[in-house]
Amino acid sequence: RTRLIDFNKIIDVVNALKNAQNILVLTGAGISTSLGIPDFRSSQGFYSKMKNLGLDDPQDVFSLEIFKRDPSIFYSIAYMILPPDNAYTPLHSFIKLLQDKGKLLRNYTQNIDNLEANSGITADKIVQCHGSFATASCVTCKYKIPGETLYPNLRAKKIAYCPFCENERKSLLRKIEKMEDEGGYSSRYDNIQSFGVMKPDITFFGENLPERYHNTIKEDVRHCDLLITIGTSLKVAPVSDIVNKVPNEVPQILINRDPINHCEFDVELLGYCDQVITWLCGNEVKWNIDHKDFDKILHS
Ligand code: OAD
Repeated sequence: RTRLIDFNKIIDVVNALKNAQNILVLTGAGISTSLGIPDFRSSQGFYSKMKNLGLDDPQDVFSLEIFKRDPSIFYSIAYMILPPDNAYTPLHSFIKLLQDKGKLLRNYTQNIDNLEANSGITADKIVQCHGSFATASCVTCKYKIPGETLYPNLRAKKIAYCPFCENERKSLLRKIEKMEDEGGYSSRYDNIQSFGVMKPDITFFGENLPERYHNTIKEDVRHCDLLITIGTSLKVAPVSDIVNKVPNEVPQILINRDPINHCEFDVELLGYCDQVITWLCGNEVKWNIDHKDFDKILHS
């Protein structure tokens, strides 16, 4: 992307926010870290905690192939990224504020914590690009349940099974046991461990992004008049490509703790996003971010 717009001063950012009517907000794990939910790739992030799981690449914890072979790996660590009840951050409130002002075209979130909904951002304004913990499905028959139903199992690191597949699962296990006793095990049963296992509807590597993503993104990149990217390393495609799909004349703002060297933005506001946005809205744009635990989160 070629940088076309000359953002020299904070007043340019303020004007961009005030003038824009169709803001596309692209978010990642960094917008939830102030609540104690780890991001993925930082030194203390979720992937840094995968050392003892025997995976070649920590991202494999979200590999569909590996989940199918051994769902216990995901079940052993998913508790670390379970979302807290009813919580959201000042940054989520900022996105809600854009919605209230009629300026939010869409929030494309890579987050699976579903906290956007807690802040009052409506479903039509959110695209959960990587799915979420909000629902879970049986990998075999696709029976769907509310995600929270699975939380006790995830917290206890105990695999949850689909009630409708249970009989078939048990009879398959008996069949395999018999085969093994007779020395005739077949590798086509390698994925039997995941037969009838419930999996949160998170998009794993090897799965398609939700249909909603594909249905909305083409139009939205054409209609947006400002792109704000917040709290993401932009390492995972196709979401990382959104910044290149937006037309060159549309201003792009980055708010992130660390710089992103492989992309070009018109302005980079580097720091903790809750603080950056509070300062920007409170001191410069003069917009009031409404958040119940504002001070607690900002000063923790
Ligand atoms: P990453 O962990 O890759 O990047 C998080 C970014 O947020 C980093 O650049 C941090 O500098 C920044 N950051 C952390 N805390 C921040 C804060 N308080 N304020 C501002 N910035 C902060 O996370 P994502 O880019 O979201 O997939 O990762 C993308 C996808 O990779 C995820 O959706 C996940 C993972 O594989 C699934 O969950 C399926």
